[in-house]
Amino acid sequence: MPIGTTAYKFMSQVILAFISLCFFACTEQLEQTQKAARITDTATEMQAAVAMPDSYSADVAKEILQKGGNAVDAAIAAQFVLAVTLPEAGNIGGGGFMLVYKDKKTDFIDYREQAPLSAHRDMYLDENGDVIPYQSVIGILASGVPGTVAGMWLAHEKHGSLPWKELVQPAVNLAEQGFKVHPKLAGSIERHIARLEKRSFEVNFKDYFAAAKANEVFQQLELADTLKRIRDQGRDGFYKGQTAKIISDFMRQENGLVTEKDLLSYEAKSRTPLSAKWREYQLLTSPPPSSGGIAIIQWLKMYDILTRDQQKLTHNSAAYLHLLAEIGKRVFADRAEYLGDPDFVEVPVASLIADKYLTMRSQTILKDKISVTELIKPGLKESEETTHFSVMDKWGNAVSNTTTINLGYGSSVVVEGAGFLLNDEMDDFSAKPGVANVFGAVGGQANEIQPKKRMLSSMTPSMVLKDGEVVFVTGSPGGTTIISSVYLSILNALEFSMSAENIVNKPRFHHQLLPKDVIRYHDGIDPAVISELEQMGYTMSNRRFGDMHVILNKDGKVDAASEANGRGKSIIF
Ligand code: GLY
Repeated sequence: MPIGTTAYKFMSQVILAFISLCFFACTEQLEQTQKAARITDTATEMQAAVAMPDSYSADVAKEILQKGGNAVDAAIAAQFVLAVTLPEAGNIGGGGFMLVYKDKKTDFIDYREQAPLSAHRDMYLDENGDVIPYQSVIGILASGVPGTVAGMWLAHEKHGSLPWKELVQPAVNLAEQGFKVHPKLAGSIERHIARLEKRSFEVNFKDYFAAAKANEVFQQLELADTLKRIRDQGRDGFYKGQTAKIISDFMRQENGLVTEKDLLSYEAKSRTPLSAKWREYQLLTSPPPSSGGIAIIQWLKMYDILTRDQQKLTHNSAAYLHLLAEIGKRVFADRAEYLGDPDFVEVPVASLIADKYLTMRSQTILKDKISVTELIKPGLKESEETTHFSVMDKWGNAVSNTTTINLGYGSSVVVEGAGFLLNDEMDDFSAKPGVANVFGAVGGQANEIQPKKRMLSSMTPSMVLKDGEVVFVTGSPGGTTIISSVYLSILNALEFSMSAENIVNKPRFHHQLLPKDVIRYHDGIDPAVISELEQMGYTMSNRRFGDMHVILNKDGKVDAASEANGRGKSIIF
C-alpha cells in the first residue's frame, strides 16, 4: 500500500494538531457531572439516563424523557439543541449515525452526508495530480450534502412518540432567546477565529460567531428562523422551499456545489446494524459507511484470540498498549483497502469479522516486537471533531448517536440567511489513493469520490447487549480515534469492570498503522510504560482525543458519565 508523504500530509498533521488544541487539549475545567439519587427499579420501569456533550442538551433530553418521550424522542431533541449550543460539532449542516434499540428491535439511521451530484473523483487535485491543500477541509467546496434533518425526520417517523414540533421547539428557544456561552466554548471560538485569520482563509465564521462571549447570552436569529421552518414543515423545511433556496442560492454565489437537486434527492437510510457475538455479549454497532463497527469487532475479537491462554493483561501496561497497537495496524490496513459506502462498493463485512480470518490475522503479532508497518497489508486475499451522546429511557430502549460536521466548526462557512455551519465532510473521502486525509487515514478506490456516494466514516455509535437487554451504550468524537475510544470503553466496562466515570476518564491510546509506529495517548499513562514502549521502537505522542458519553446498565443499576475533559453532563433519574 502506498504511504502518503506529501506536503498535504504534513499540513494535515498541522491541522490535526490545531483541531486537537481547539477542542481536546484546550477544553478547560470539568463541568460538574450531575447524578440524581438512584431510584429502585420496578418490574417494568428502570432508571433513565442521558450522557450528553453539554448541559443544554442534557437538560432538554431529560425533560423530554420526563414528559413521557422515549429515548429516540430525547435524542432528536438533543440533536437539534446541539446544533445551537455546540457549534463545533452539533449541527443541522452535517450528518451522523443513530443506533437505536427499541422494543427489543434494532435500527441504524444513516444520515451521513453524501457527495454532491457534480462531485468527481479528482476534484481536490491540481493539474499535477497533487492534492490541493485545505480545499476539502475549509471553505465552500468542503461540504457534502447535509443529512441531519432527514435523519432526525426518519428516526421520528419510525420510532418517535412525541409530536415533532415539541422536539424541535427547545432548539428554537435556545437560538431565538439565546443561551449563556460556556467559557470553554467562547475560548474555542476565539482560537478558531485566530487560526482562520492567521492563514487568511476567506470564510464568514467570524461574522457569525465572534459575538459568542464567555458567560454572555448568544442569540442566533437566522438559525432560529431555519429551525422554525424545520419545526413547522419537518424534513421539507430544510430540503425544500425557503431553506433549500437560501442554501442553493448561497452555494451558487460562493461557487459551491450543493444545488436544490442535491437537497431534494438526499435520503437518510435505515440500515441493519452490525451484530456480533463477543464473549457472552452481543455487540451492536455501526455498519458501513462507518468503518468503526467492523474495526471494533476486529479489535475486540483479536484481543480475545491473543489473550485467551494467558493471564489478564494489566490495564494500560506496556504489554496491553503494544498488543492493541499491533491489532490496530491490521485493522487500519483493512479499513484503507476494503471500506467505503456499501451502496457503491461491495464491503466484505462477513469475511472481515469472521473468527477464522481474525485468528489468521493475529498470527503474526508478537508480544515483544513491533511489526514492520510497510509489511502490514490488507488481509483478505482477493478531527477530529464530531460529538456523541447516549440515552436510555425507563423502558430500557436506548440510543447511541454520533453526529458531525467533521472538523471543529466544519468548513467554517455559515449559510448566509439560514445561520448554520456547513460540514467539511468531503475530506473523509480519499482525495487520492495513499494520500492521508486530515486524520492521517489513507484509502483507495473503495472510498474515492463519486456523486451521491457517502464518505467513509469512523463514527461508531455502539451498544453491548446481554440476554436482550442493553448493558452498555457508548460512543465518542475524534475522527479515526473514535474507534479506539469505543473499543477501549468496551474493554474498560466488560474486561476491567469499571464504573462509568472510570470508563470515560481512564487514559486512552490510539494506533492506526500510519503514521508509522506512533501511539497517541492521553495524560495519565504511567511514564514507565511510555519509556518501555519507546524502547521497543514506538514514538509516543501525547495528544488527547475523544469526548465519551456512556451509559452502563449493570446488576440492576444504571450508571452514566461524561468525560471530565469536555463540557458534558450526564444525569440519571
Ligand atoms: N468526520 C469524521 C468521521 O466521520 O469519521
